[in-house]
Amino acid sequence: MPATVVRVDLLHPEPEIMAEAANRLRRGELVVFPTETVYGLGADALNADAVQRIYEAKGRPAWNPVISHVADTAAAAALTRHWTEQAQRLAEAFWPGPLTMVLQRAHHIPDISTAGLNAIAVRVPRHPVALALLRAFGGAVAAPSANRFTQVSPTSAAHVVSALGDRVEYILDGGDCDVGIESTVVDLTGNTPTILRPGMISAAQLSAVLGQTIAHGEAVAEPARALSPGTAQRHYAPRADVWLLNADNVQEIRDALRLRAESPPGAGPVTAILQSALLQDAPGVNTVVRMPDSAELYARALYRELHTADATGTAILVIEVPPDTDEWKAIRDRLMRASR
Ligand code: TXA
Ligand code: MG
Repeated sequence: MPATVVRVDLLHPEPEIMAEAANRLRRGELVVFPTETVYGLGADALNADAVQRIYEAKGRPAWNPVISHVADTAAAAALTRHWTEQAQRLAEAFWPGPLTMVLQRAHHIPDISTAGLNAIAVRVPRHPVALALLRAFGGAVAAPSANRFTQVSPTSAAHVVSALGDRVEYILDGGDCDVGIESTVVDLTGNTPTILRPGMISAAQLSAVLGQTIAHGEAVAEPARALSPGTAQRHYAPRADVWLLNADNVQEIRDALRLRAESPPGAGPVTAILQSALLQDAPGVNTVVRMPDSAELYARALYRELHTADATGTAILVIEVPPDTDEWKAIRDRLMRASR
């Protein structure tokens, strides 16, 4: 059965639509909803069978835990064993918003919602439809990004329909996501707050609020192969081959594109996603996408361009790598993963 897609008014999310979605969650169904980062594939976080269905729909491995979304800080605290002072300060500064905090979990959380870990990831999103749904539901909604495992996260309802349209019941369409890449995940279970996945809330911003240095770590590792969820190979990856372009390899990439352009046709189109004139007049480029100069606008546009490349059968994506500074860190992280 194809999913029902319901357009929701952003300023005044319709109470009857929110009630319908909340009832579906209570019945153990999957409901896709917009957040300010990316769309989430939601289920009742306290219903182990419902959470199991998330893993099946995504094809997500069981070792990779999901984030629990709630409407406010008090509800987040209730999912943890100790609500720490650090967590309180970060919540006051960044919630509702694109920050996920990892803390010791409360005993009533089913194992599957944390992939058996003693810690739980919690987030209060700021998208008005997400907040309205969470309020109507009244509990915690477990939600990973609403894409198949290893594919690019969705930033519009259309992206969700093409990836999961036959695997979920109900999709709330809240338009395009305005942050555009996944939340910053910060682990507060140790002595030093540690970023497990960079996002648009930077280490410098967290550090300014907490008054201490922030470490960078790796997300939960896959047992046996020691890959981590955020870092799994081909995570966030489009179907095209991704070639990362910088000032050092521009000649190499021009040469490779020229060779390709001279070889027999049939190899599929090339799209270049660029910020500068580095590749100007390069042979063999079929489409040029000029990206914004600001990191905020770039992040908003990135996954849309990757989805478009997938939808149009792009064979090679040449992507210019933005500067190596704090504000571009999360974007560079996603580009590195897309290119693996
Ligand atoms: O922006 C976002 O965070 C989106 C929206 C829907 O909220 N969600 C999202 O979920 O990106 P997902 O499942 O694609 O990524 C969740 C990340 C993974 O890297 C996962 O390993 C980490 O959070 N995570 C979840 N629970 C954790 C835990 N208990 N301990 C450590 N890391 C955890
Ligand atoms: Mg994801």
